[in-house]
Amino acid sequence: DRGIVVAIDGPSGSGKSTVSRRLARELGLAYLDTGAMYRAATWWCGRTGVDLDDVAAVAAAVRAMPLTMVTDPRDPRVVCDGVDITDAIREAALTAVVSKVATNLDVRAELKRLQRAIIEDAAGGAGDHAPRGIVAEGRDITTVVAPDADVRILLLADEQARLARRAKERHGTADASTIEATRDEVLRRDADDSTVSTFLTAADGVVTVDSSAYGVDETFAAVLSVVTK
Ligand code: CDP
Repeated sequence: DRGIVVAIDGPSGSGKSTVSRRLARELGLAYLDTGAMYRAATWWCGRTGVDLDDVAAVAAAVRAMPLTMVTDPRDPRVVCDGVDITDAIREAALTAVVSKVATNLDVRAELKRLQRAIIEDAAGGAGDHAPRGIVAEGRDITTVVAPDADVRILLLADEQARLARRAKERHGTADASTIEATRDEVLRRDADDSTVSTFLTAADGVVTVDSSAYGVDETFAAVLSVVTK
């Protein structure tokens, strides 16, 4: 008797974090933000003084990273080396360099291993809790980390919608100037991530949801209907 595994991928600004977290909360599942793990790896390299261009040193640092992901969707936290870094990993300076760490193939192998262990723990019921399942979101969950998930969703949104959402998140409002200020962060990171992101086309068996014309509630309803079908 296994819990359900829901895998959701999408580019930045697609709404995947908001929707995934809400889905986990409403269904009583665990919630895993895999992007936060790449961010944590980047933070850890900074903390331990590792040069992000030194591929071997970055990989070694990440293998030794003392990371704890708290997967409660009501209050997901990232703790590394005893420090709660949930907020620190969202900072602009870190966001600007996370792709350097995320494109390191040894880092990806290590984080994939950790992600699969977290998913297995939540869905397989190892330990002292009953299996209940998990919503895991990122850029390669439907394809690489959990290709055998019970439900796999690709959440897309057009560039304009993604930029407007990020501008609103960062600056409180989406107008011409805040959208322009967000453009570089979003589009450059999409380009930097393109070697590892598999969201451009949905893999076989992955359901695409386009949220361009939707608000949060409509996007959530569309995703929920895929999960409960
Ligand atoms: O929220 P947003 O989409 O802007 O970013 P995120 O989900 O926090 O992911 C941060 C970074 O982690 C991405 O820009 C990718 O470089 C990397 N990432 C990845 O390579 N693979 C994943 N499954 C998730 C994130």
